[in-house]
Amino acid sequence: MTANRSSAPALAVVGATGAVGSTLLQILPTRADVWGDIRLIASQRSAGRRLAVRGEEAEVLALTEDAFDGLGPGDVVLFLTPAEVSARWAPVATARGAVVVDQSAAFRQDPEVPLVVPEVNGYAARIRPRGIVAGPDCVTAAMIAAVGALHAGFSLVELTVSSYQAAGAAGRAGSQALRRQLSLVAGTALGEAPGDVRRAVGEDTGPFAAPLALNVVPWSGDLREDGWSSHELAVRAETRRILDLASLKVSVTCVQVPVVTGHSLTVRARFEQRVDARTAREVLEAAPGVVLVDDPAAGEFPTPADAAGTDPAWVGRLRGSLDDRYALEFFVCADNLRKGAALNAAQIAELIVGELA
Ligand SMILES: NC(=O)c1ccc[n+]([C@@H]2O[C@H](COP(=O)([O-])OP(=O)(O)OC[C@H]3O[C@@H](n4cnc5c(N)ncnc54)[C@H](OP(=O)(O)O)[C@@H]3O)[C@@H](O)[C@H]2O)c1
Repeated sequence: MTANRSSAPALAVVGATGAVGSTLLQILPTRADVWGDIRLIASQRSAGRRLAVRGEEAEVLALTEDAFDGLGPGDVVLFLTPAEVSARWAPVATARGAVVVDQSAAFRQDPEVPLVVPEVNGYAARIRPRGIVAGPDCVTAAMIAAVGALHAGFSLVELTVSSYQAAGAAGRAGSQALRRQLSLVAGTALGEAPGDVRRAVGEDTGPFAAPLALNVVPWSGDLREDGWSSHELAVRAETRRILDLASLKVSVTCVQVPVVTGHSLTVRARFEQRVDARTAREVLEAAPGVVLVDDPAAGEFPTPADAAGTDPAWVGRLRGSLDDRYALEFFVCADNLRKGAALNAAQIAELIVGELA
């Protein structure tokens, strides 16, 4: 545990050693100083490790019932863990009276668990019958502040999205697999003959269905019999929930690209009202969590390399659709570990603490 500031609410971070957990520990000192004790928890493998948080070293505890001792009403427990770990252990934390913020897929479709992006539907975090609030998937999170602001302005009726997803969305295993593959293909004359990249990378493609170095993989998640992937359906369902548009038409294609951190998406959004790029620009310029960077002639446009390590969703290439006066097209990039996970979780936790204070 870190410095005892016992009068303020405690924050426990389960999964503190993972890709999202490490990002959260970097973010915490940059956020409002609302927390008392900060407790770090991970698997038995990491027990005893020492990590820096808020400028001090803290020992990582193993995830056991005892790890929640002393936590209670007013405290918040973040789960930045695989879904099966969140599903098993979040109820243990809520049984102690703490509120859980879960960043996994475990509760995102549970009607008794609000799915929250503070810039869009922060109010929803107040009603949490199970004592749990969920954050969305990192693809949903990358676009939803921009889409939500446009929906508030023009009333969304249809959304078509393609993702260009970073390897880091698959956790440490994903970014390590891409780095390993890149080192295997680096400096070789590849891509000239069929099978070159596959031969260099070998059988072990990590969490991806094919080599990701010098390549793209045309789905993420599990493929179903009807051809849609679990990830595509999740983004569709989450978008509907967060915007409270149960029958919104949504079509998503998830594609993995050889980027370590930073998701990019192309978005086509169709509205009830006529839209033009100029008015849409004004809406996005005022939208919380969104930065419009859209002057390609001056070298101003978003890329995942520029979005990595930053908090907002960066929007560019904003155009009115050529054949439809009710539709807009744009490109958006966001850091999958920050707005896609750790930052969103921190923002929800701060909302809850503000409400309980
Ligand atoms: N990466 C992203 O961009 C992203 C974005 C949005 C949401 N998410 C979601 O956020 C969660 C964490 O993702 P991640 O990318 O940080 O994964 P990760 O890098 O694999 O880290 C997983 C974390 O969970 C801990 N953990 C694993 N099994 C455990 C167990 N049995 N008991 C206790 N702790 C356990 C790990 O501890 P050890 O180090 O001790 O193994 C580690 O701290 C996942 O549900 C993921 O889907 C990730």
